[in-house]
Amino acid sequence: MSPLNINKDLLEKFEKGLDPRHPERSKIPAKIIGYGEISTIFEIQDLTQKGLAYKRLPIFKSRSEMDQYERIYNEYNRLLKEEVGIEVPDHGLVEIIPDEANMVVYNVQSMLPPASIGNKLLHSLNDEDCVILFEVVLRELKKVWSYNKRATGVEIGIDGQISNWALKDFNESKPTVTPDSELLYFDTSTPLFRINAKEQINPDLFLRSAPSFLVWLIKWLFLEDVVTRYYDFHMVIVDLIANLYKEQRPDLIPRFIDRANAFISTEAKEFDVKPLDEKEVRSYYREDAMIWRIYLALRRLDRFLMTRIFHRPYVYILPGRIER
Ligand SMILES: Nc1ncnc2c1ncn2[C@@H]1O[C@H](COP(=O)(O)OP(=O)(O)O)[C@@H](O)[C@H]1O
Ligand SMILES: [Mg+2]
Repeated sequence: MSPLNINKDLLEKFEKGLDPRHPERSKIPAKIIGYGEISTIFEIQDLTQKGLAYKRLPIFKSRSEMDQYERIYNEYNRLLKEEVGIEVPDHGLVEIIPDEANMVVYNVQSMLPPASIGNKLLHSLNDEDCVILFEVVLRELKKVWSYNKRATGVEIGIDGQISNWALKDFNESKPTVTPDSELLYFDTSTPLFRINAKEQINPDLFLRSAPSFLVWLIKWLFLEDVVTRYYDFHMVIVDLIANLYKEQRPDLIPRFIDRANAFISTEAKEFDVKPLDEKEVRSYYREDAMIWRIYLALRRLDRFLMTRIFHRPYVYILPGRIER
């Protein structure tokens, strides 16, 4: 599948020497290049690994879980690329089985220029171009709902946040975007699609990195919500716009809302998407930010309990401080 220079032996060594608390101090050091809500993206500091972006998923309890994830991950990438028409980066997966603790899948992608990623662009483009970028994202999203409307039995979900897209053919010295600019969607490690209404990924996997004493609570409070919103065109747009708070561009919200509503009532009319307003975006963001803040705080507590109180290894790399 992938022309990427992946070296399984090296990854095995990397995993053995990994310091999850300080990845940059691991035996083979890792340089952090990005944080998502639940994961950390890094480059392995080895000459052969330059230009590769890694995400580590230490969440699997058995080989069959890993194999199943691989199938679903590959199929999601294929669906986006071949059926929906959304471009994804070159990618690959590597399974590592450590001596103890969970089994690990390393997710590898070609590294995209950091300055070409949506949330960076929000700070380098002028406001006019930010709105154009948003419009280009809306058109990509529309492809997903056009596909879903074909009712093939397969329904695709997507996390449309601006930090999940990169501008293709990007010129760093002169960042511009036009309505014809092409994008890559790279946040494919949470593959969301249903076949005959059945979610393909086992949602429990998302909870593996959650503190075990909380799994029942999270399941009950918000797992269902968090997963289903990615299948709802309106909610995906609300989520995308609400994220402008986190990306430190709340000033763009009114213009994005206007653009979204214009899009909904013209180009995307056939999908009957409910228009959005600022009040909805604001209250959505408050709730969402709170969910993730609590979640991260509890993971830190879990790490504290594990390492300091129970003297057990803590295998997850936690994100650093997230500005909101
Ligand atoms: N292939 C890549 N090339 C460059 N940066 C990346 C790549 N993949 C992820 N990143 C960086 O890491 C961040 C989080 O990655 P993402 O895949 O969106 O993870 P999450 O599922 O946790 O949101 C991105 O916003 C981006 O800044
Ligand atoms: Mg993301």
